Amino acid sequence: MSGSVRILVTGATGAVGGAVMRALDAAGHRPHGVSRRGGTGPRQHVWQVGREEPPPALRGPWDTVVHCAADTRWNLPFEEAERANVDPLRAVLRLTTPETHLVHLSSSYATGLAGDVTSPSPDAYRNSYEWSKAATERLVHAESARADIVRFPVVMGARTDGLLDRYSGFFWLPTSLCSGAVPAMVAEEKALLDIVSTDDVAQHVTRLLAAGAPAATRLSVLGRGDRAQPVAEAFETVRAALNTWRAAHGVPPLDRLPSMTPEQWNRFYLPFAEQHLDRAQLLRVTAFRAYQGYLSVTEPFEVTHRVPDTALVLHRSIRRWAETHASAARRVPRPWRT
Ligand SMILES: NC(=O)c1ccc[n+]([C@@H]2O[C@H](COP(=O)([O-])OP(=O)(O)OC[C@H]3O[C@@H](n4cnc5c(N)ncnc54)[C@H](OP(=O)(O)O)[C@@H]3O)[C@@H](O)[C@H]2O)c1
Repeated sequence: MSGSVRILVTGATGAVGGAVMRALDAAGHRPHGVSRRGGTGPRQHVWQVGREEPPPALRGPWDTVVHCAADTRWNLPFEEAERANVDPLRAVLRLTTPETHLVHLSSSYATGLAGDVTSPSPDAYRNSYEWSKAATERLVHAESARADIVRFPVVMGARTDGLLDRYSGFFWLPTSLCSGAVPAMVAEEKALLDIVSTDDVAQHVTRLLAAGAPAATRLSVLGRGDRAQPVAEAFETVRAALNTWRAAHGVPPLDRLPSMTPEQWNRFYLPFAEQHLDRAQLLRVTAFRAYQGYLSVTEPFEVTHRVPDTALVLHRSIRRWAETHASAARRVPRPWRT
């Protein structure tokens, strides 16, 4: 595939889209990028995908579309999650023809609680984000005969230096550890935290483009699978990375958090906390509850492409986060008091 092939990357300013743009550039392509606010650099366009018609420069058909644009917030109302994640895919599909190679980025968590994406019921998923990502996979199957669907778990930065174009989602953890918003490590004993680097995703997408569109819709699942870091170990990696940065900046280290299972937390600590904590503390506890489901995944994802070890990627990404979020990283957690 040469630089003359028209490639569109949606979500080009995001954590994953930014890395995909760089990898495609490095492979000799000249991709066009799209985002709501537009990016810096050549061939970056502004388009609210799914909310307005595409600008003339972006009208199709495209040879290849790598669809990374998404709203990854877990707490959107369901109709809003549909507008944020399903409507943009519908708009992107209108730029394709049967010859277009569509690479649709999804999430390993799109399989929700049942382990597959088939159910349209919100009850089959942990939240509206998973539900909407499952809906996008079903839409790709229904509307595109030759697409690649690429699922992956939590995304960390570049393998060499932890660089990420955007810090969202998982980065609630270092923020909360430093501010004291996480009162305990609440996780199942055998829970795994599967992680990939943006490089793993970007390189995989580049390889898919080099191979060309599949004869029928094809699924790749990237990750560490049953070799993912246990959650308790990943928490320690995060704490160690933060403490390395804090030591270098004269900030006291973070203590190890008490650990407990979700059952212990929900049955004993939470009812007690709800009676005795103040409003601000309760708000923090409620926000924290949203993440529990992700720290309780004991069944490894079945990966089709196992990525190299990610413990160092996690360490470097958290250190990089600390470098770029110094005021949050140097906070000294206030002890929990009732
Ligand atoms: N991050 C993770 O841990 C993770 C894990 C598994 C799967 N994924 C999947 O990976 C993909 C990329 O996620 P990410 O983490 O890179 O997200 P991100 O960092 O939040 O970036 C989202 C990107 O999409 C753009 N965007 C969102 N809605 C848009 C719209 N309607 N029109 C135009 N642009 C829009 C944003 O543009 P603006 O900057 O202008 O808002 C931004 O460029 C998504 O499909 C996500 O579901 C992510």
